[in-house]
Amino acid sequence: MQTLHTTSLQVRDNQLWILDQQALPQQKNWLDASSVAALVSHIHALRVRGAPLIGLSASLLLALLAENGMPKSELSQALEVLRAARPTAVNLMNNLDRMKQALTQENFVAALSAEALRLVEEDKALCDSIALAGSELVAPGSRVLTHCNTGGLATAGVGTAIGVIALAFRQGKIEQVWVDETRPLLQGGRLTAWELSELGIPNRLICDAMAAALMAQKQVDAIWVGADRIAANGDVANKIGTYSLAVLARYHHIPFYVAAPHTTLDPHCPDGSAIPIEQRAACEVTGVSGSFGQLQWAPENAQVWNPAFDVTPAGLISGWVLDTGVVTPEEAAAGYFQPRANKAI
Ligand code: MRU
Repeated sequence: MQTLHTTSLQVRDNQLWILDQQALPQQKNWLDASSVAALVSHIHALRVRGAPLIGLSASLLLALLAENGMPKSELSQALEVLRAARPTAVNLMNNLDRMKQALTQENFVAALSAEALRLVEEDKALCDSIALAGSELVAPGSRVLTHCNTGGLATAGVGTAIGVIALAFRQGKIEQVWVDETRPLLQGGRLTAWELSELGIPNRLICDAMAAALMAQKQVDAIWVGADRIAANGDVANKIGTYSLAVLARYHHIPFYVAAPHTTLDPHCPDGSAIPIEQRAACEVTGVSGSFGQLQWAPENAQVWNPAFDVTPAGLISGWVLDTGVVTPEEAAAGYFQPRANKAI
């Protein structure tokens, strides 16, 4: 396969490399992800993370395994193992459905390679379209708040919510970005604060629990988040803490926007209650780990509830900003995300 280089994925010498998102921003380590076991382990540990990136990394790996001689039956098994690597972000399943189709072709090696590269190129274009559509919703002088990380690290392109913010910033409309640190794994504090600073966008970090006070002080003009799965009624699964922001936004009359590509839509999932929510290890809540090692503050054997995502009901969302344009609450309520209503899905 040709050499490929995005912010957090590389293909070179027919091997897949990922930028370790657990070590950022202190260290920029590129890790080999050229076997199913290696990539699944990186996905579990969130060294590769973000809904679009998970799907793209799995697709690229399948194509590389085919090019490196793996037989069709084994590729088929590998595809199913990769599909089960994380349950919530539907981009993984949607991308792998397309790879599965390519695997049925007579010349499946070339077909898998072409499809994986197409998915990467498409994702870049989807990000650009989302940014264009979303930036029109950003008022001049905006102070926006974002949660988790939705930038170039999490996609092949400029990102989703961060893509919108970055374009609006270049248009002179962003005064400041409030960055939720995003407990427990700190994607905001570690990744978004770093990415925004690299882009030269003024940003200020807050603990998740500070968002309410910030809104009460009228310091937030809009909230922009990404998505891991959008159900047929418009309910959105995204990083844990997103739902609380949406509730707070409604109370404080602040617009709450979700930015996502159509690869995040799941028209076959009727509503948020049917979205599988990943439960994660207790140690992520009993302490924190990073390039400094593991620090635990909770008592030994503390009982923990640690869902990686929550569901924001459609009724709290001011607009779904897709690559195909902005879906209004009225359109969502009228069935925009239902299978037959949207030809793009
Ligand atoms: O657990 P993570 O870090 O993979 O969760 C990521 C998110 O929730 C993002 O908001 C979502 O995947 C969109 S990334 C463009």
